[in-house]
Amino acid sequence: MRNQHSDFNAALDDQLEKELDDIIGQLTLEEKVWMMSGHDFFKYFFGEDNRQFGQRTYQAGSGCERLGIDPLLFSDGPRGVRSKRPTSTFPVSMARGATWDTDLERRIGDVMGIEARAIGVTLSGAICINLLRHPGWGRAQETYGEDPYLLGEMGAALCEGIQAHNVIATVKHYALNSIENSRFRVNVKASERVMREVYLPHFKRVLDAGCASVMSAYNKVNGDYCGHSRRLLRDILKDEWGFKGFVHSDWVKGAYGADAAEAGLDVENPEPIFFGKNLVTAVNDGEVSRWAIDDAVRRILRTQFAFSRAEDGRAYDEEDIARETHRQLAQEVAEKSFVLLKNDSLLPLDASKPMTIACFGPLMDKENLGDHGSSRTVPPYVVTLLEGLKARASDPIEIIHDDGTDPERATALAAKADVCIVAAGFTWEDEGEFIPGNEAMEGLDSEKKMDSRGGDRDQLRLLDRDEDLIDRVCSANSNTLVAIMAGSAVTMESWKHKPAAIMMVWYPGMEGGTAFARVVFGDVSPSGKLPFTIPQDERDLPFFDPNADEIEYGLYHGYTLLAKSQKKAAFPFGYGLSYSSFDYGPARKVTAGGKTQFEADVTNTGACQAEEVVQFYVGFPESQIDRPAFLLKGFRRVSLAPGETAVVRFQIDRRDLAYFDETTGDWAIEAIDYAAHIGPDSVQALGQGVAFAADEIV
Ligand code: BGC
Repeated sequence: MRNQHSDFNAALDDQLEKELDDIIGQLTLEEKVWMMSGHDFFKYFFGEDNRQFGQRTYQAGSGCERLGIDPLLFSDGPRGVRSKRPTSTFPVSMARGATWDTDLERRIGDVMGIEARAIGVTLSGAICINLLRHPGWGRAQETYGEDPYLLGEMGAALCEGIQAHNVIATVKHYALNSIENSRFRVNVKASERVMREVYLPHFKRVLDAGCASVMSAYNKVNGDYCGHSRRLLRDILKDEWGFKGFVHSDWVKGAYGADAAEAGLDVENPEPIFFGKNLVTAVNDGEVSRWAIDDAVRRILRTQFAFSRAEDGRAYDEEDIARETHRQLAQEVAEKSFVLLKNDSLLPLDASKPMTIACFGPLMDKENLGDHGSSRTVPPYVVTLLEGLKARASDPIEIIHDDGTDPERATALAAKADVCIVAAGFTWEDEGEFIPGNEAMEGLDSEKKMDSRGGDRDQLRLLDRDEDLIDRVCSANSNTLVAIMAGSAVTMESWKHKPAAIMMVWYPGMEGGTAFARVVFGDVSPSGKLPFTIPQDERDLPFFDPNADEIEYGLYHGYTLLAKSQKKAAFPFGYGLSYSSFDYGPARKVTAGGKTQFEADVTNTGACQAEEVVQFYVGFPESQIDRPAFLLKGFRRVSLAPGETAVVRFQIDRRDLAYFDETTGDWAIEAIDYAAHIGPDSVQALGQGVAFAADEIV
């Protein structure tokens, strides 16, 4: 895979800029403004597409026919390329966050780039990196977890893969977007420090990887809608970070007036509701500057030309969609994403031993791929958990499925079985993107209004139905595995002591069942680690109100909050078991290539080949300011044979030690001793650390 466009935001191409001067000089104001909006969305949505989203690529930035400049053609992600045609459907982003595997994520981006090109997409909306502040967020499944470092690394990897095929990647939703139900109105308040340290660094990271487009969020930040936030769009993104691409709005309620253009919104999607004629008038009346219009057009064309003219060296066609190698990748990702939370010697099951496996719950045999909002894809087929088990298990093994609706029957079946598997969790009906009905359709033909759907999760624990089933099955047979399908944390204090094993399987994509069977029968060891904290009690998390009109986001959430309040997690950030076991030697400080680095020996002390996600945290034990006790600053997945040792090494730079000093408006580094920790999760890593001083890091 070629690393195309990685320097897109680093420098301008003088030659291209001259050409753009010339083109901008030839365009009328109306033509420029045309370019600054999507078009035809409603025509098709209410017409041919019969109110189904994603039936075609959306025009987003609509080119200039007179000069032969094509419209940008947008399609969503992130679990595959959204199209009415069947496309490869991967585990949701949160599952991929649990792989902690940037190479794998780059390969997924590569497949998405290929399939996007085969469909004719030129602008991909697959990269969602909003920080999971609270696991109740309905769209949690579309992002990678609670930590800015993890989000940035995974988002950058997906971007590199997609853009390698000259598809422009847009990163969304900028910024502080993590409540669904009130997403169109909530005002998120956050101090400059909170934004810089917690909610923005991952956006900067993805842009530094060359990401060429940004989608603004629906919500307000500190009083301004994101599409109207001069602070976010112009001051920080464009002026300070040097972003060279264009910003487009989210769909329908992403802008509220022509003044958004002055604030730095370059394209209003999906239609010129507030741009179009209004924008022409606003410019003629002097309310929006001609400079802002020219800057927007320059950004759109700069991006479009950089991507459409880049050499590809290959053709893309129908045959590329959902091909065998893509299927294999979907399976590999699912295998690496499952997080084994508990295993009292139940797993792996021995596929050669005669046994009866009783499987319970409707999710066992449901095509459960995630929400039904913009990220919905149509896979060519889906292997359910049950189908996967049946395909993998052969003769001496009998697999029975019971939907769990009759409690007596379920108990009797569980008592007779050798092993039980309960699939519990959620579907698109319980969590997902909030798609409004009437609210977004104001002013449109009332006949054509839709019902709303999706939204934030009502509770972090499982539905009563699932908890009852787990209770019943486990009371009859504790040789039970509970497989949880969900987009983020599920609290399990009331029942986690009952089953022998618990595994997060997420919304596992089209090959989820195949992967599930391979992990259950030990063809491959589970190796995913939690990309968020599972608390013992929902009250250990920050305040969350899905219907908030206003909310304040602070410096602490997830593992940083639990560490500060000295609360023990049920399962900490970074946690996950393996069929093997790993021994971590003490962290050491070494000098390599003239730089201080940190390393530890990690040895596979178990009996099987397995992969392990090694994590690196920097601690601030002597800090004189209010800041998290430690932060993730590196991770690496290693594959080790029994007895094998890897020396796993990490390097940081000075920025990794810094905090944002609001008095100077700049990053600052404390002159204290820091601690480097290397370990298997955010709690165990802290057991052993090595001290170092700020000036040892260059
Ligand atoms: C979502 C975006 C999506 C857009 C286009 C919006 O409702 O918030 O994530 O890209 O629709 O489908």
